[in-house]
Amino acid sequence: MRYKNWLITGGAGFIGVNLIERILRIAPQANIRVLDNLSVGTEEDLRGVCKFRKVKSDEIKGGSVGVELMVGDIKDYGTAFAVSKGIDIVIHLAANTGVAPSVDDPRADMETNIIGTFNMLESAKQNGITKFIFASSGAPLGEVDPPIHEGKVPKPVSPYGASKLAGEGYCCAYFRTFGLKTVSLRFGNVYGPRSKHKSSVVAKFFKSALKGEPLEIYGDGNQTRDFIFIDDLVRAVLLAAASEVGGEVFQIATYKETTVNEIAEKIKDIVERRTGIIARIVYGQCRAGDVRRNYSDISKAEKMLGFKPLYDLEAGIEKTFDYFLNGTGKE
Ligand SMILES: NC(=O)c1ccc[n+]([C@@H]2O[C@H](COP(=O)([O-])OP(=O)(O)OC[C@H]3O[C@@H](n4cnc5c(N)ncnc54)[C@H](O)[C@@H]3O)[C@@H](O)[C@H]2O)c1
Repeated sequence: MRYKNWLITGGAGFIGVNLIERILRIAPQANIRVLDNLSVGTEEDLRGVCKFRKVKSDEIKGGSVGVELMVGDIKDYGTAFAVSKGIDIVIHLAANTGVAPSVDDPRADMETNIIGTFNMLESAKQNGITKFIFASSGAPLGEVDPPIHEGKVPKPVSPYGASKLAGEGYCCAYFRTFGLKTVSLRFGNVYGPRSKHKSSVVAKFFKSALKGEPLEIYGDGNQTRDFIFIDDLVRAVLLAAASEVGGEVFQIATYKETTVNEIAEKIKDIVERRTGIIARIVYGQCRAGDVRRNYSDISKAEKMLGFKPLYDLEAGIEKTFDYFLNGTGKE
């Protein structure tokens, strides 16, 4: 581990808790401060992976000792500034996540994803932080011929894609103008343990199937995504954190195109095989803002970060099923 003092925004969320668990496994002495407004993730979720103490902004004088949770909002600059004191590296995960909420309320999406990201970058600069990893997505690319890659001109379809693109733009500018080593990682569709609160397709299908409810597909199910298992995603974040790279964007996915129909069938099969529950698949309306095909060419991350996904869909889905079945994944 190159850095000792970490700030993880959105650290109580799905990716955050998995990342914290991994960092502490590799480097038990790491100091990790979490900034989360607990709008989605909970203290319980964080407690599931570590012991922590809660801090208030006026108590922060320098780096954290062990794991600290500050409950606060990235939209507030005072909070962002205080929480960044004594930090070496920021992993900026806090966001309005997903297309649907951004279509319902584009202003809220913009305020969290653009102003919030700006606040974290500016605080990082003011506090002399070395490295900044930004959780972006495939959404900035929008409706382009797949596979998507870093050389394509982004044409976002959803407000979420637009706000993540703005975040990438600020990350690039903060590297080129101020020397903050930013890296934007465009995550594929992440799935895995500790995703019980997610409404993304794998988590949603597992929750429905185990409750005996139908798996609802929006549209005809031939839309495609690039599904990446959480352990691979966390490894990519840590590789980016350890690298000397700044001002770059990387696709972080698997380079595999899977239809939503295929995912639904896989989940239906595993649930039936292992529990006897027979789930139905039903089709609803397409959702505004969703793109038709989306998978990523990950050659740049392979070349520059040494990233290679280790899990195929079968292995990842089995592990995710274990999590949803053993109780902790149930709502
Ligand atoms: N999960 C995926 O498939 C996926 C795909 C692409 C990109 N991403 C990006 O990765 C990041 C993490 O995603 P996740 O799946 O862990 O989401 P999540 O919703 O599980 O976690 C996000 C966390 O951020 C917190 N948060 C939200 N708004 C906040 C605010 N204004 N101030 C402080 N905290 C706030 C929430 O309480 C939550 O704990 C997000 O930026 C998301 O856009 C995720």
